[in-house]
Amino acid sequence: MKPKIVVIGSLNMDMVVQTPRVPVMGETILGQSVQFVPGGKGANQAIGLARLGAEVAMIGSVGQDLFGGELLGSLQTGGVNSTGVKKTESGETGTAFIVLAEGDNSIIVVPGANAQCMPADIDAQIELIERADIVLMQMEIPLATVTYAAKVAKLLQKTVILNPAPAQKLPPELLACVDYLTPNETELSILIEGESDLEGRMDALLKQGVRHVVATLGAQGVAYKAQAGSLLHISGHQVPVVDTTGAGDAFNAGLAFAIGSGQAVPDAIAFANKVAAVSVGKFGAQQGMPTLDEVVVFSESF
Ligand code: RIB
Repeated sequence: MKPKIVVIGSLNMDMVVQTPRVPVMGETILGQSVQFVPGGKGANQAIGLARLGAEVAMIGSVGQDLFGGELLGSLQTGGVNSTGVKKTESGETGTAFIVLAEGDNSIIVVPGANAQCMPADIDAQIELIERADIVLMQMEIPLATVTYAAKVAKLLQKTVILNPAPAQKLPPELLACVDYLTPNETELSILIEGESDLEGRMDALLKQGVRHVVATLGAQGVAYKAQAGSLLHISGHQVPVVDTTGAGDAFNAGLAFAIGSGQAVPDAIAFANKVAAVSVGKFGAQQGMPTLDEVVVFSESF
């Protein structure tokens, strides 16, 4: 059976500049190209899930501008139910300014209409949550909305996965509703200050009620710990990189898909690592999201 997942999060138009290096403050340099492609952590994860074969709906917010229409079109073409994405009267569609240089990316997000995704929108789209098994969220919409949605999802006995990106301090009432928290190392150090050790930070989140912490460590793979469990390490993959943008989104889509398909968590993490590895082989956050067949072919290649 297809996993049923609702993604509550952002939609951005990504303006991607490719350049040999990042300029220093006050400097002008010549870049190689600029491209406008659909993005936003929420929409990327929704598209990633649909490519893998999940039944996906999205709740979010765009403006009534050209970008908003394009992003909605991209969700629909990608097989995501977009009826839960509202068009706000005030606010322009979210944008992300992405610099690709030296094999990595840096991103500035201007939330725009994403900031108008409110708790009332969760109530308005409650049927989408009722129909899903898993609620997957990130932090590019207001914290109040994420917190409210997590509480609603837990009342409805749904599994809550939170990708805390971009990171900010999270209130205990939110953490208590989270089944799976998926920070990277930088995000982990923002979520839990005053603890230098990786496992200490993970333990601090588990003590606050998070049921599983899945910490992504880049080339070092993933550290995983559940309440009353011991620390596990799951290796990643060294692959040629075209574009790292959206690799974290691919990982979260892969994790949600595998958990929704009933896989044990360590296996789900191993699957998510493969989804992320395949995703960096193509340009663009959404274009890079692999199909299940592509992940299978990748798995068979080693
Ligand atoms: O995770 C990558 C995404 O972060 C980009 O698509 C950009 O829109 C920002 O949200």
